[in-house]
Amino acid sequence: MDKDKLQQEADHFSQQDNQAQRMSAWTAVPGIADRIRTTLDVDAIVVESLASFDNKRGLTLACGDMTGPYGLFKQSGVQHVDAYDLSEGQRKKFFDSKYDGDITVDYRIADVNTLELPANHYDLVVVQQAFHHFEALEFVAQQIWQSLKPHGLFVLKDYIGANFLQRTPDQRAVCSMLWRTLPERLRRHVSGKVMNGIYIPDKNTLPPYEGIRAEEVLPVIQRRFRMLHGHCYAGILFPLWNGFAQNYTQSTEDMALIGRLWQLDRQMIDSGAVEPNFIRAIFAR
Ligand SMILES: C[S@@+](CC[C@H](N)C(=O)[O-])C[C@H]1O[C@@H](n2cnc3c(N)ncnc32)[C@H](O)[C@@H]1O
Repeated sequence: MDKDKLQQEADHFSQQDNQAQRMSAWTAVPGIADRIRTTLDVDAIVVESLASFDNKRGLTLACGDMTGPYGLFKQSGVQHVDAYDLSEGQRKKFFDSKYDGDITVDYRIADVNTLELPANHYDLVVVQQAFHHFEALEFVAQQIWQSLKPHGLFVLKDYIGANFLQRTPDQRAVCSMLWRTLPERLRRHVSGKVMNGIYIPDKNTLPPYEGIRAEEVLPVIQRRFRMLHGHCYAGILFPLWNGFAQNYTQSTEDMALIGRLWQLDRQMIDSGAVEPNFIRAIFAR
């Protein structure tokens, strides 16, 4: 691994205002987080599946401030969590704003690409919006696989779209057409600029490992694990809404548009017309 690039990656996430970032992320569009959750309630399935086991241990990789996973670990009755991230700043955010002392958390700074995990050790492993930052996909997948107990579950909630968030040709074609139907107020990027065409991030402005091998994440994981439950989504919603979520309101007009785009997204993914950008899934050994 390139030490300078890893340091750049760590610095980016230390400085990031996680809350502000979440407010403009596509999942902040009104009603969308609920729609995603009710389509496949990963957390409820995990809680029920692990209910009969005692002394549970959890692991989370590249966990940032652990929004999401920390609550899932608590609900699942996990008593101890091992947590890893590159960024000191993210660890500080977790202990300053999320940690309540209910369970023990050993949060260490490490590069997950070279992290060796204990065998047959964890009941629940959670990787959220992070696998697409790893370069050593095969190594990390293998480490997680062998670290699970026989009944253990691996929860993945992640980006699986085009490398470096560049959008696939089909996503670009469909979203460019839809973009022309949107009023100006919904085309104003969080930076303030009104976009005439769809927004594609400049690779040079991203943290260096953002989506480095994102297209390979799912195939690599599927070669090693059994998928028990999975939902792939946001082939058009992510390109249309990421960085634009703050423009949408709960007005009747906006909610109707949001509902139509949600349906269209599902139809286009189910028919193979566009590739999904995200997955929520539960895997077993
Ligand atoms: C998009 S954030 C997601 C954070 C958190 N999982 C969440 O869902 O909010 C990506 C995280 O991965 C961490 N990261 C990136 N590359 C890493 C690596 N090689 N090893 C460990 N952590 C890494 C970053 O520091 C950052 O906290």
